[in-house]
Amino acid sequence: MILTKNKQNTAIIKNISQVANNLFLLEMLPKKELEILPGQFISVLCDNFTLRRPFSVMNYENDVLSILFKRKGEGTAYISSLCIGDTIDFTGPFGNGFSIKNQKSLLIGGGVGSAPLYFLKKFLSKKGIENFLMAGFQTIADVPEKMDIDFISTDDGSFKNKGFICDYLEEVIKDYSPQVIYSCGPFLLLKKIHLISKQYGIPLYVAMEKEMACSIGVCRGCVIELSNGQNATVCKDGPVFLSEAIKWD
Ligand SMILES: Cc1cc2nc3c(=O)[nH]c(=O)nc-3n(C[C@H](O)[C@H](O)[C@H](O)COP(=O)(O)OP(=O)(O)OC[C@H]3O[C@@H](n4cnc5c(N)ncnc54)[C@H](O)[C@@H]3O)c2cc1C
Ligand code: FES
Repeated sequence: MILTKNKQNTAIIKNISQVANNLFLLEMLPKKELEILPGQFISVLCDNFTLRRPFSVMNYENDVLSILFKRKGEGTAYISSLCIGDTIDFTGPFGNGFSIKNQKSLLIGGGVGSAPLYFLKKFLSKKGIENFLMAGFQTIADVPEKMDIDFISTDDGSFKNKGFICDYLEEVIKDYSPQVIYSCGPFLLLKKIHLISKQYGIPLYVAMEKEMACSIGVCRGCVIELSNGQNATVCKDGPVFLSEAIKWD
């Protein structure tokens, strides 16, 4: 497709490892240098499937681009079968990325939805912006190794704090007094976080996910409804939105 031509790239896999149950960290060396903001995503060609699969960038540092992905269906099974030295065909980065504020930041993610928040945390820390990352997982087997997370909960209490991560949000807001909140994860978790942040009057930025085809705002496959009655594409207008702009019900 002509519109994605200058976004086309390839990368050599530097490392691929399983870091939790069905969760893989893929580190690759892109051929072309990139400028990437936390919250942006790439779309990976998976074997012979026409539709590329979108993944948030989990880190981009020293020319190494990383994604953290959950093995779900055929596309991610294919990526998980790749080895060091194999070539990845991808397009991107796409999307707007998180709006960076020079303010005390609280980051809260659910499961693999935490991937863009790891990148955001590194980015904020490098800029000297105070931040605190909370992440929730179903069970201990889902908690990825070696991630820099300040507060962890598991639904079943098998690791660290027991319960849903949003159950701890009010407590952390009171203790930490964040000026801005960033989140990514399942829709219902984001909705709960939206309601709590609204109650405390703290602006919340959410990275949304929607099934995608083109990734560039053309096919309209990833449209969501906004609170003002208009529609927006997650791939081009997002994936990051101010939570009050989203129609949650
Ligand atoms: C902006 C964005 C960022 C994402 N970041 C990550 C990430 O960092 N890590 C991660 O593990 N997953 C991420 N996802 C979800 C990931 O794209 C899907 O899990 C993946 O496409 C599933 O592909 P599959 O072939 O294995 O599964 P299948 O279920 O077989 O996929 C079939 C089709 O549905 C689409 N699809 C299925 N689930 C999703 C979904 N949740 N979102 C979008 N498309 C979907 C696929 O692209 C494919 O076209 C992200 C999705 C979006 C939109
Ligand atoms: S995926 Fe085509 S418009 Fe978003």
